[in-house]
Amino acid sequence: MSTRHIDDWRSLPVAHQPPWPDEAALAEATGELAKLPPLVTSWEIETLKSQLAQAARGERFLLQGGDCAESFAECTSDVIANKLKILLQMSLVLVHGTHRPVIRVGRFAGQYAKPRSSSTESRDDQTLPSFYGDNVNRPQFEEAARRPDPWRLLRGYERSAMTLNFIRALVGGGFADLHHPEYWDLGFVQHADRREEYAGLIERISSSLSFMETLSGHNAADLSRVDFFTSHEGLLLNYEAALTRAVPRRQGHWLLSTHFPWIGMRTAQVDEAHVAFFSQIQNPIAVKVGPDMPIADLNTWIKKLLAALHPDDEPGRLTLIHRFGAAKTAEYLPALIEAVQKTQKTVLFVCDPMHGNTRTTADGLKTRRFEDILLELEQTIEVHAALGSVFGGIHIELTGDNVTECTGGARGLRDQDLHEGYRTMVDPRLNAEQALELAMLVARRS
Ligand code: PEP
Ligand code: CO
Repeated sequence: MSTRHIDDWRSLPVAHQPPWPDEAALAEATGELAKLPPLVTSWEIETLKSQLAQAARGERFLLQGGDCAESFAECTSDVIANKLKILLQMSLVLVHGTHRPVIRVGRFAGQYAKPRSSSTESRDDQTLPSFYGDNVNRPQFEEAARRPDPWRLLRGYERSAMTLNFIRALVGGGFADLHHPEYWDLGFVQHADRREEYAGLIERISSSLSFMETLSGHNAADLSRVDFFTSHEGLLLNYEAALTRAVPRRQGHWLLSTHFPWIGMRTAQVDEAHVAFFSQIQNPIAVKVGPDMPIADLNTWIKKLLAALHPDDEPGRLTLIHRFGAAKTAEYLPALIEAVQKTQKTVLFVCDPMHGNTRTTADGLKTRRFEDILLELEQTIEVHAALGSVFGGIHIELTGDNVTECTGGARGLRDQDLHEGYRTMVDPRLNAEQALELAMLVARRS
């Protein structure tokens, strides 16, 4: 029997936490959070876990996407609705191409904290704490803005609740009804090829839907409501712990700030606090795996990681999101898959083709080439086919808005075009057109 405890993480080294200047204020703010109602419920989490179990067996496909970092200011109806629209459009394309039901998970309603490669940022002769996401401080390079403020955690919780409330209301009200794909139109998606291909697809889906309904004499009521789940990086353990609860008539502890938290690549050390905390919650969880994994000693590392986070091989419990970059996928992904196969446990493999392909333009903008993103996906599909394992989903940074943050795609954006609509607070996202194009590629190849 495990003698481990939900609070064990508190005595372990914990990476990438902001330098909170006032411990008493942090305790007070998280004490308030601990009294507030949860954002999601254990039964929703269980539903998602069973769907993820199906995805790991190749019976479903995971589409996880949204901002690198949400911002408090962009908690607006348009931004939220546009994100749902692009996720719905992509999922339709993926259902059609993969012949698998798609699980829709947003990087939203809580993606407000970022790990930073350096805890400080210097400009000219001034050094200030880095920007850790809206849950912690503000991005402006000013002393007051960059001071970590634990009361922002409450604002983040509230913004998450508002976002989720709006999403639930839209979905409950028929916004995601498959009979009405016109509700998800994004007027600015102009590029003719994509638009026509997508319109043709919608046409085919609508006519098969009405054919089925005529044939059966019933309205396909299930299709008038599709679900969305939420996810974010579980970085700030004080916040996550405050929203972790015991639930009546269920075993163990449940993280109720989100359905599907993940451990970022920088905080996945097996003997440290994040892994200890995640090992004690009942949610399905994901771990980001990158090119810094110990390739020479991979079998031992994977065995230890899975022993900590996936001891019982419970279906749907563990997802590995790999983000090796186009240049390293062909070498690293087979090694990762084989190391997992040696444990004889089942995990869901998901490809994040964004984070291993980041580069900086001559003008200093962080960007990604659309071709590199597609190449990483193509290689992933090939590797899984060669090893007889399941390519179970994609994890994408995207927005439903008309931004110019990644180069390439149907409009052929170049480095010098990025200034037109570069709005991200941290990493470059695919715009709606690029996201749809990516879904089409995966659909064609899977
Ligand atoms: C992210 O998902 O925004 C992120 C920081 O990813 P990773 O942990 O894979 O670097
Ligand atoms: Co990111």
